Order: sequence, then C-alpha cells, then structure tokens
Amino acid sequence: MKGNLTAEQYVESLLEQDAMLNKVKEGIREQGMPEISIAPGYGKLLTLLVKMNGAKRVLEIGALGGYSGICLARGLSDDGRLISLELKQEYADVAYRHLTEAGLGDKVSYRIGEALDSLVQLGEEGQRFDVFFIDADKGNYPNYLEWAIKLANPGAIIVGDNTLMHGRSMDPREKGNAVTQMRLFNEKMTGDPRLEGVILPAYDGLAIARVR
Ligand code: DHB
Ligand code: MG
Repeated sequence: MKGNLTAEQYVESLLEQDAMLNKVKEGIREQGMPEISIAPGYGKLLTLLVKMNGAKRVLEIGALGGYSGICLARGLSDDGRLISLELKQEYADVAYRHLTEAGLGDKVSYRIGEALDSLVQLGEEGQRFDVFFIDADKGNYPNYLEWAIKLANPGAIIVGDNTLMHGRSMDPREKGNAVTQMRLFNEKMTGDPRLEGVILPAYDGLAIARVR
C-alpha cells in the first residue's frame, strides 16, 4: 500500500540521521563490499547493550566495514576496548579507517584470519569479554557461541545477527549446513542451561542471551 510504512521503516524513521554511519555505508558501497551492515535501530541497540552492561571488553566476530564496530565502541566507557575478528585484511583496513574517522580508532584492535584461530589465541591469552556480537559465516555460529561462553565474564551478553536467515531458518525444506547450524545456534541461545536468551523476529532475527 503506497504511503504506508512497514513497522521497520516506521521505527527507523524516528531515529535521527547519523552522518558518520551514513558515511560508513557510503564507504562500504564505494569499496564494493557487501551492503549487509546492520540497520540503524539495531546499531543503536548494540550501543545500548554495551552501555547497560557497563561493558569494558567487547568482542565482535565479523568486522565488515566497521558499522557495527562503531555502534559497539560508542557504548564503551573511556577505558573500554573492542576486539574485532575479521577474515579479510582489506575489510579490517576499511573498518579501522571508519572507526578512526569516528574518533574511536584508539578503542579497537583487529585480529585478521579465521575467527576460530583468533578465538583459540584469545583463550590462550586468558582474555575475557562482557559483550559479544556474532555476525560472520553462518555455518560456524554454534562454534562461535561455544567460544563466547568460554570467554565470557559472568553476566556477559551475547548477540547474534541473521538468526532467521531471510526466513530459511523456519523453512523445513531448507536442509543445508548453514541453516542447520543456525537452527542449532537458535536452540542454544534460547534453551542452553548456561544462557538466558531470546530471539526477536525483527530485522533478520536478532538473538540476545545473557551468560548465567
Ligand atoms: C546477509 C546479511 C547479513 O547481515 C550477513 O551477516 C550475511 C549475509 C545477507 O543478506 O545475505
Ligand atoms: Mg549480519
């Protein structure tokens, strides 16, 4: 129906335009990177979750162009830090440039390569985190979740993007590995005894859990 907004368009229209985040989206487009950054309202939620949890240490799995990284880092206090895992050096370079432009470059460090390798390394270093944001290769979500639980301080918040996979997660005809792994992730986020979690069917499915 012409003139009618979807629920998402309506709530996004209430948010003030964010010049920095618009610039990040433009930079991602110019670089020919996938235009799959999270929505503005989703980014705002990440900032709020970091603030509400008083998080000092945040781990992001999947940096892309730095959109979610900026949103996470904005929630940190002066002594807070973000570690961002990214497969591709060129994506991490773009993300770092964007965080620097946002005045947040001194808050972030990137670890390049397979996230599972970086997670092993973080574990060996004894690193612990208060907020996790999982937004990378979907077939590894359950593995990333296990690592997040391992590296979590008590009360840590774990967030996962794309848990509905554009509707594929609830389509029984879909039997591929990524969807199957995402279903497992969703079951753990909502039912694992180590977590208290929920999935919001907004955007592309937004899972939030707290580590007990
Ligand atoms: C897609 C969207 C995402 O947010 C993501 O992390 C990966 C893929 C997509 O729309 O294909
Ligand atoms: Mg995503």
